[in-house]
Amino acid sequence: MNPATTPQRQRLLRPAPVRGLPADFRWGVATSSYQIEGAAAEDGRTPSIWDTFCRVPGAVEGGERGDVACDHYHRMSEDVELIAGLGVDTYRFSLAWPRIQPGGRGPVNTKGLDFYQRLVDELRGRGVTPWITLYHWDLPQELEDAGGWPERDTALRFAEYAALAHDALGDRVEHWTTLNEPWCSAMLGYAYGLHAPGRRDLGAALHAVHHLLLGHGLAAGALRDAAGGNPLELGITLNLGTATPETDSEADREACRRADGMGARLYLDPVVHGRYPEDVIADLAAQNIELPVRDGDAAAIATPIDVLGVNFYRGALFSGVTDDGSPIDAEGVPVVRMVDRDLPRTAMGWEINPTELTDLLLRLERDYGLPTVITENGAAFDDTVAPDGSVPDADRTAYLADHIAAVVAARAQGADVRGYFAWSLMDNFEWAYGYGKRFGIVRVDYDTQVRTLKDSAKWYRNTIGLTRAGTA
Ligand code: FCB
Repeated sequence: MNPATTPQRQRLLRPAPVRGLPADFRWGVATSSYQIEGAAAEDGRTPSIWDTFCRVPGAVEGGERGDVACDHYHRMSEDVELIAGLGVDTYRFSLAWPRIQPGGRGPVNTKGLDFYQRLVDELRGRGVTPWITLYHWDLPQELEDAGGWPERDTALRFAEYAALAHDALGDRVEHWTTLNEPWCSAMLGYAYGLHAPGRRDLGAALHAVHHLLLGHGLAAGALRDAAGGNPLELGITLNLGTATPETDSEADREACRRADGMGARLYLDPVVHGRYPEDVIADLAAQNIELPVRDGDAAAIATPIDVLGVNFYRGALFSGVTDDGSPIDAEGVPVVRMVDRDLPRTAMGWEINPTELTDLLLRLERDYGLPTVITENGAAFDDTVAPDGSVPDADRTAYLADHIAAVVAARAQGADVRGYFAWSLMDNFEWAYGYGKRFGIVRVDYDTQVRTLKDSAKWYRNTIGLTRAGTA
């Protein structure tokens, strides 16, 4: 039987149950600079911490790196056409700081800015709204050489770069996200050594947390000033999940408090409520770690934002004891242990449980009360190309459909969710995993750079079309 006509495939090409979404619900696709652009040494771009990290033996699967990636820098017009063809109204992408301000300080690099000016113009020309992320992890290497995010000066540099970017693009771009997932920048980059710059120092990582948040706040202020009275929708994007205790035991509930504290509240509380969570600060003090907070920082970090960007990939179950029942591990640290559940998984090994997205959105509404946009959601699967050239990625389509349904359910229960952006527009450089993990709704053949719509992309287009028409 032709795979294109199997009943299962037909069913999966049907649009998602999006009844109830307003016609102005924002639909998008997302990418980031280092993951797609390539052209690493062109037109004045200087190395970022990812260019350096990729060259560390063993840091990235297969020694892969972003020198060429999806060659988006040279194929931008073709990619904009692709984006417009999907029927999305919004494209979320990031600016490469080392392209715009090589070395992280000093004057702008006109050629680097030109690229983003053309991108913005082409998007707008095709009726697609640009949504800019200022920092999606590609810190100029020189700033890391000067100490990186654990140093306060990096926050000041970031605010300056934000103002430069807005000066150049602010007349045409209304939607600005300061940081993408500061937890990843700080913890994966400075504590666990899994992302650039590959350091393993928990104290430095917590200093990075504070300076990332300060950088966010200062940049938010700079963007507000630069915008004057012009429209500006400003936000930060956090990676958020849910933490469920394995049992009702005090130890398991304590593990969830800690996981949620370090993963979510450490970022949300200062940004939205203007103060760090006391319990997390006390946990850190017990490890002799203190955040380098100065007078005025709390107010800067809490500079009002308009929207909270939520990147959701998974929730998790936590236990507060070791396999042999101890609440303290061999190093004397309280146990926070993720417990595997019997759930389907993506190619990343991440559990699939869409109702946790509904739970998360309701919790954010209750505790923080900001409008949200899902700035990333999606899944890697081991795609196969059918003999006719199509990519029947039923698993990804199901993942997207079920998570969009989870958003619809959250809205129906009162969560103010205003948009959904699929991660990702196309297969790309998945950080320490290299090119092996494919998150795109569009397939990229890395030998030829040919882009092919996967079934999930066609399905997404249908779903968006029906929402707009109000017939979903
Ligand atoms: C997020 C990142 C994004 C991508 C997805 C899979 O943490 O923001 O760049 O790697 O995960």
